[in-house]
Amino acid sequence: MGLAWVISVAFASAHAGPMPAGHPWSDAGLNPDARARLLEAQMTQDEKFQLIRSYFAGAGPHKPSQKPVPPGFIGSAGYVPAIARLGIPALQESDAGLGVANSDALRPGDSATPLPAGPVTAASWDPQVAYRGGAMIGAEARAKGFNVLLAGGINLMREPRNGRNFEYAGEDPLLAGTIVGATIAGVQSQHIISTIKHYAVNDQETARNTIDVKLDEKAMRESDLLAFELAIERGKPGSVMCSYNKLNGDWACENDYLLNQVLKQDWHYPGFVMSDWGGDHSAVKAVNAGLDQESAAEAFDDQVFFDTPLRQAVASGEVKQARLDDMVHRILRSMFAAGLFDETAKRPINEQADLAVARHTLESGAVLLRNQNALLPLDVARLKSLAVIGAHADKGVMAGGGSSTVRAKGGNAVPGLAPLQWPGPIVYHPYAPLAALRKMAPAAQVSFADGTDVATAAALAKKAQVAVVFVQKWAAESVDWTDLGLPDQQDALVTAVAKANPHTVVILENGNPITMPWLGQVGAVLETWYPGGDGGTGIANLLSGKVNPSGRLPFSWPKDLSQLPRPELPGAAGGEAPKSVDYNIEGADVGYRWYQRRGIEPLFPFGFGLSYTQFEHGTLAIDAGKLQAKVSVRNTGQRAGADVVQVYVQVPGSPVRRLAGYAKIFLQPGEERTVTVPLESRRLADFNTEQHRWVVRGGAYAFSLGRSAQALDAPVSVQVQPSR
Ligand code: BGC
Repeated sequence: MGLAWVISVAFASAHAGPMPAGHPWSDAGLNPDARARLLEAQMTQDEKFQLIRSYFAGAGPHKPSQKPVPPGFIGSAGYVPAIARLGIPALQESDAGLGVANSDALRPGDSATPLPAGPVTAASWDPQVAYRGGAMIGAEARAKGFNVLLAGGINLMREPRNGRNFEYAGEDPLLAGTIVGATIAGVQSQHIISTIKHYAVNDQETARNTIDVKLDEKAMRESDLLAFELAIERGKPGSVMCSYNKLNGDWACENDYLLNQVLKQDWHYPGFVMSDWGGDHSAVKAVNAGLDQESAAEAFDDQVFFDTPLRQAVASGEVKQARLDDMVHRILRSMFAAGLFDETAKRPINEQADLAVARHTLESGAVLLRNQNALLPLDVARLKSLAVIGAHADKGVMAGGGSSTVRAKGGNAVPGLAPLQWPGPIVYHPYAPLAALRKMAPAAQVSFADGTDVATAAALAKKAQVAVVFVQKWAAESVDWTDLGLPDQQDALVTAVAKANPHTVVILENGNPITMPWLGQVGAVLETWYPGGDGGTGIANLLSGKVNPSGRLPFSWPKDLSQLPRPELPGAAGGEAPKSVDYNIEGADVGYRWYQRRGIEPLFPFGFGLSYTQFEHGTLAIDAGKLQAKVSVRNTGQRAGADVVQVYVQVPGSPVRRLAGYAKIFLQPGEERTVTVPLESRRLADFNTEQHRWVVRGGAYAFSLGRSAQALDAPVSVQVQPSR
């Protein structure tokens, strides 16, 4: 019997309840560090060891736990029991990137509101949308008794086949950092600790538990790590989850460079680092490199490193007592900072309001990729007939798979779709587009074909005024795709429908870019990724023009695999797992910067997206001293809508442009306003690895307004002072 089990007799309930008197750390007027210090001073060594590891619920996604879990666990990804004697509440951890997850239905019958996929939020280019989404999830988590959310996924999209891109925020560090930072701030506004994950450069799922990622320091600081840096500054997450992979030879969770040197020293990060589930490989090395809490060790790691092995290491002096105290301090400090000791009241969930948040996210982030002859918005008042085809649109909207999967109210609308084991089953949230489209056009005859028979679908499309074809491609944690094609002969389906009806609209439900051999034959294409709660209504609102699409792609959309830095993804199709992956091929030039460097044109560029109105831009004015851009924007069309002002900069000596700032603005028809766009200083700088800091070269910088990373206005040249 381990010592932890001796302690378990002292476990209190999951919630510490009201603070007993005589606990000076319960004074909310003190700062989190002071409160943590007062509390640490009272803790026994066993209590300290209790705080630095979490338990897992039992039968989980990857392998079943053989050991009983201490009482008080609500049932989700992780649990650190309360220490009732000192009023330390339990840590109840749930996955929550896209809503409070219940991926293995560990809490039978418990449902939550699913947000759309992460790229939708990023495609809104609106941190407020992200904040509201985070706050919605945080509030639902609190109502269920969780106080730590495994949220904040921000791995950059280097690999368009990555099965987890649907949990993340695209390819650009500035956009991802600002959006994910806002999501985290939203979660934590509900007095919940949020993580940011997976730190770092865990940009593919293939061989994720073993692969050694090669990426040089300068490139890393200017790309993947910059995204984390910006999001941590903005969101102040209580915890950072280190990732599965190795980085330049060391596991991410025992990587001194990542954890000690960058995160804790350079960025002065005060919170704690928790390992990903199965991501810890040692006691001494990990702890001395900066890992503070071992997650779900008994179920996922080779052994519980943060119990007996660490106790021995502390006793022998291999790990200093001061370091153990620092681990404890960091955990407690984050708990105080997020309000876990002070704010324990539960508020009821407002389902309708939460669904509206999810729908608003979709309406702000769906991207209109094509709209020939203004086929959209549909003239609903005059629409007589509509053929709806494919992708279970009569039942619901697709969700991505793995630990982030939310169980929406009403359950899985299409049960039984393989893979049935984790990361499956495939889940459809029960917000059927068909019903919403019928509601949108009450006078029209709206018919449905499931798309399995191409001829039937084409015949239905032929009889209708407009055909709306839904296509899907499932993506899931732990597996990457080997290609960008649509599965299940959906290309043939779209081609046949488009041939039968020139007014064909394609709705994409997917985690990643897909090839579209039929693109030139269809009238319109709307990218919804995985649409989330009330997704059917959101789609109908976008098609009818009740909402004007304003999303812009948060990643470059390749024409085919040959355009990528690594056309092959070894191991994705099975066979021998690759030992390493070379990200130095593109280095910091992830996504659009790679396309610019190579002079190749993607199918759709980063930042691209159409609207039902048009916007005219004035001349860009740059104040380099104030780090601000100003430009007037006018809505010259007939409909209200939102524009995204994108400012790109080309630093002297660099062949590529970087996004330096952005702002979203909503304008009525004819309205004109001047927008102030904050510019990110690190986008004007390079990371100097000898001086360990950002250095501005100075000289003539070319700033351009862009409709996308590819469609740029003439540059404005501005003299920028070098760093001192
Ligand atoms: C995933 C994490 C997740 C954890 C707990 C891991 O497999 O990589 O994102 O938070 O499981 O479910």
